[in-house]
Amino acid sequence: MRRSSDKRRFFDELAAEFSEDFSAEDLAKLRWMSGRWGLQEGMWVLEPGCGAGQVTALLVRMVGAGGEVVALDISPRMLDAARQRVGSLGQRGPGSVSFLCCRLEDYVPEAASFDAVIAYRFLPHLDDIPAGLKVVARALKPGGSLFIDHSAGREQVNRFHEHTGGAVAQDAIPEEAALRRMLDEAGLELVELTDRDDLYHAAARKATA
Ligand SMILES: C[S@@+](CC[C@H](N)C(=O)[O-])C[C@H]1O[C@@H](n2cnc3c(N)ncnc32)[C@H](O)[C@@H]1O
Repeated sequence: MRRSSDKRRFFDELAAEFSEDFSAEDLAKLRWMSGRWGLQEGMWVLEPGCGAGQVTALLVRMVGAGGEVVALDISPRMLDAARQRVGSLGQRGPGSVSFLCCRLEDYVPEAASFDAVIAYRFLPHLDDIPAGLKVVARALKPGGSLFIDHSAGREQVNRFHEHTGGAVAQDAIPEEAALRRMLDEAGLELVELTDRDDLYHAAARKATA
């Protein structure tokens, strides 16, 4: 489990940086992506790798008081920042958002309980992508969707991680055929893939029962 604890330390040290508000450019991309998530009031959403909670705060607003967001991360400092950011919204009753400190690969969700899983700037950081996708498939309701989003294209993201080095040097978004195969093995179907210089957006669906 060495890789995982290296990564926890790596991201703990980035918690302050990740707490800064997104740039106007990233917010515009996020608006485009979130418009494709199809979230409605009352939905249940899982957000693995929530970081400092920028997207969590958006999700909490999107699903409203009747919805539920479960945000998980391996970094305690990221989670502290996320709790603070979401707590400062001050508009939600207790119980509508929960934060868990764990690896997605080890999370045991109540089966078929989530309408959507939002993986924003997260998937390549998994120690074991196929194992993480299996957890996602178990968590999703039949017909539920996984969205994999990044604020840059696949090649740009992968180059950035390689250049950054250290604990994330080998973290890479898989190329389309490999991703499709991993999703398929998990019980998810890739239904949309946009890979441009300035963003990456993939959607996968769990079959209806
Ligand atoms: C690049 S950051 C993105 C954070 C946030 N989604 C954002 O875009 O601001 C990736 C996050 O994933 C978390 N992470 C890495 N591997 C993880 C794993 N196996 N399970 C859960 N979280 C993980 C890190 O601690 C980090 O907070």
